Order: sequence, then C-alpha cells, then structure tokens
Amino acid sequence: MGVLIKNGTVVSATGSQEQDVLVSGEVIARVSHGINAEGHEVVDATGLLVMPGGIDVHTHLDMPFGGTTSADDYTTGTQAAAVGGTTTVIDFALQNQKSTLKDALDIWLKKSNGNACVDFSLHMAVTNLHGEDGAETLAEMEEMVKFGISSFKLFMAYPNVLMVNDELMFRVMQKAAQLNGLCLIHAENGSAIDVVVSQMIAEGKTAPHFHALSRSPKAEAEATHRAIALADIAGAAVYIVHLSNEDSLAALKFMQGRGAKALAETCIQYLVLSIEDQMPGKSWEEAKYVFTPPLREKWNQKPLWEALADGTLAVVSTDHCPFRFADQKELGRGDFRKIPNGGPGVENRLQILWHFGVNAGRITPEKFVELACTAPARIFGMEKQKGAIAPGLDADILLWDPNAEYTISAKTQCMATDYSMFEDWKVKGNAAKVFSRGELVVDNVASPGKFLGATGRGRFVKREANAGGLA
Ligand code: URP
Ligand code: ZN
Ligand code: ZN
Repeated sequence: MGVLIKNGTVVSATGSQEQDVLVSGEVIARVSHGINAEGHEVVDATGLLVMPGGIDVHTHLDMPFGGTTSADDYTTGTQAAAVGGTTTVIDFALQNQKSTLKDALDIWLKKSNGNACVDFSLHMAVTNLHGEDGAETLAEMEEMVKFGISSFKLFMAYPNVLMVNDELMFRVMQKAAQLNGLCLIHAENGSAIDVVVSQMIAEGKTAPHFHALSRSPKAEAEATHRAIALADIAGAAVYIVHLSNEDSLAALKFMQGRGAKALAETCIQYLVLSIEDQMPGKSWEEAKYVFTPPLREKWNQKPLWEALADGTLAVVSTDHCPFRFADQKELGRGDFRKIPNGGPGVENRLQILWHFGVNAGRITPEKFVELACTAPARIFGMEKQKGAIAPGLDADILLWDPNAEYTISAKTQCMATDYSMFEDWKVKGNAAKVFSRGELVVDNVASPGKFLGATGRGRFVKREANAGGLA
C-alpha cells in the first residue's frame, strides 16, 4: 500500500508530462502513466503540478547576529518553509573565531536536532584558522566532509565579526579544492564599506536608508571578482551567495567566461524589491529592509531575471534571516549600524518566484523547478536523495496549484516575524499539498498555513563533496 498521486502534471527541470507518482514509505517508487490505483491511497492532483519539494540553500535559523538572535528557530523556520513548499533547507553553522569547526557543528546540531520539521543540512562558515598555517582548522574541514558537510562559507564582509582576509580565504579554497568541496562567498569589500559607514555616521546619516547607500554595488562586484579569481587560482569551485546587482553579474560572467568554476545565486528580495520602492529614505519602517547586500536600484532586477533565464545564475534562495520589527530592528533606531541585518522570506520564495517569474513570462515552469529544487540538490551534493521526482529519491513532493490566489501577510504567515517584506501582495500560484519523505506535512487547501507533522521529524542530510556538480 502506497500513496498514489494521480492525474497531475509532473514538472522536472527539463520537461513536463502527465504522469502518476507512487510513493512507498519515504521514497518515490514509480513515476509512470496510468499506475493501477488498487491497494493504494489515491491523492487526486487534477489541475495541479507535481514538483520536487523546494530546497532553500541559504537560511539563518536561530542565529546570533547583530546583538540578537534570528527570530525563527529550527521549528518555526522549517514549518514556514514547508508551508511555502520547501522541504529542505541548508542553514549555516558559524565557527566562533576562538574555537573549532567541531564546536560550531555541535552547537548547530543541538539547535536543529529534535526541532527541525523538514530535512536540513548545514554549510560550515570558517572565520579563523588555528594551528601553524591554519593546519588544525584545515584538517577539520576533512572531518566536516566526512560528516556530510561539503560546503564552506567565507565572509568578505562584517569586519571584526565574521570577515576573513584573503590569506585565510585562499587557504580554505586550496583545502576545499583538495576535498572536492564548494566555497560559498559573501562577496562585499567589508573594509571599504566600513570606512564609508563611519563617515556617514559622522555626518549624521543614521537612518536605515544609509545602510543601503553605504554598500556600493561596486564593493560587491569587486569582492565577487576577487573571490572567483582566488578560487580559480586555488583550483576550487566557488558559489557566490546573494548576488544582488548588475555589476556583480558582470564580474561573475567575466570569470565564468575565463573558465572559472563559478556559480551564484540571487535571492527573491533582489528580484522584486528595490531601493526606490522600499527604501526611499522616508521612514524608520525601512529598517524592515535592512539586509546585506542591500536593496539595489530597480533597474538591476531585469539583468538578474535574465541571468536566471540564461543560466548565469544557478539558484534562487532567500537568505532568510528574520528579525522582528518591534523589538529587534528597533535596536538600530538612530544608528543603522545597529539594525540587525536580515529579512524573512523562506515561506514566500516559491510564491514570489512563480508569480513574478513564471506568470510574468520571465522563466518557464521547468526553469522554476531547476532554480528552486534541482540545481540546489545537484550543486550541494544531494541529488541522490532530493531535487527531482524520480524512483529511489526521497518522496519530497510539492503539489503546486498554479491558479491558487494568495495574499501574503504577516497576519497569516508561519514565520516568526511581525512583518512581511511582501505585505498584502497578491500572488497567483501556491503550494496545495506538501509531502516530506512521503508524509503529508502541509495541506493548504484543508488546513491553510498549518504544519501537520511532528516537531523534530526533520533529519540532517549528509551531502557529497562534488565541487558544486562542476567537477
Ligand atoms: O543581511 C543578511 N544577509 N543577514 C544574514 C547574514 C548574511 O550576510 O547572509
Ligand atoms: Zn551574507
Ligand atoms: Zn546569509
């Protein structure tokens, strides 16, 4: 006896076909036309698209940052993900500069185990190297890969907190190349930005708007080029996170054209929000949109969409890093440096990508699946478990209703913030039912916005070191 999803259209990264999907236990058993329903529990997917569950490779749950902790923990964050159709998240363990990668892993496994409601994995952020020439920490990277953590994050921003220098970055890249790992880069020139920030504050420019103005797209583009060039010299595969603007795209394209193993993501906020619309410099409310890199001028959105369509950009994630407006963003009233950086998005990623991507004719449904599900699984070493509707893979299945109309609002969302970046936006296209490893965990038709599974059912996903799928 299995669960048989009948009468739907299976959408993969390469094509769409009317097919039935048979789930047996936690995995997909068969994908084919006209599977006999006898003995199975039938789920009628007439009018629905049958897609792999979404994979958001960039979240920050329960993360200490900016003098506070991100508002979603592993329970609320993964429930919100599921309600929005995302069945796997990859979060970040952050090395404390004084301690080890193992310590960071232990801390993040404690946060996640018993709390995550869908499957999750971790990237490891390296912030310091211990031992002669970093030998101790570099050796720990091998342990991480054995454990199933095959991607290493390096921050080129946030001086004195997370930022690394070029030497550290290069040593980690060399080690990652040896291990077939992937280096994730927050690409911004943190040193130059900090000079501008201090000068702005000295001039009394303290409002949220100045956070955005202090972080030039050129500071992001410079770091993007530098990171990819260093990775290329080291022989490593590199993945630029939250690429936000056309200058950085140009740097990425240039290095891709030179044969660098360079991939990048953008995030939903950069595709649909802008400095003109959300951050015109008029009110404290704009603190809701303080994240890093900041919002950009609106004209950048078109080249970002084009880069998704033509494959220059490989993934759409969220950089979900939620802080409440009332008491957390408030920490920075009168000094934008103290506004915790980040915004909530994990619940809305697929709605925004579908509505403004597919409905607007910018990407096809197949490209939607590639950007939100299949490429994330391939690039991050999970393609044997996740990211496609195929026999043997985890039955992480999203039944997507392309005609469902939905109004996004903080009043109805699962995310723990008291605001939405897309408040009152009306979108067409939403998750109808969501299965995680064969279990129906969300039914947005019968019980809208509710997570139906047990807290803590999410499992850690061990990921292969595959050099971002580029090797
Ligand atoms: O503002 C952001 N993006 N906060 C989370 C940390 C990061 O840089 O990704
Ligand atoms: Zn970042
Ligand atoms: Zn981030």
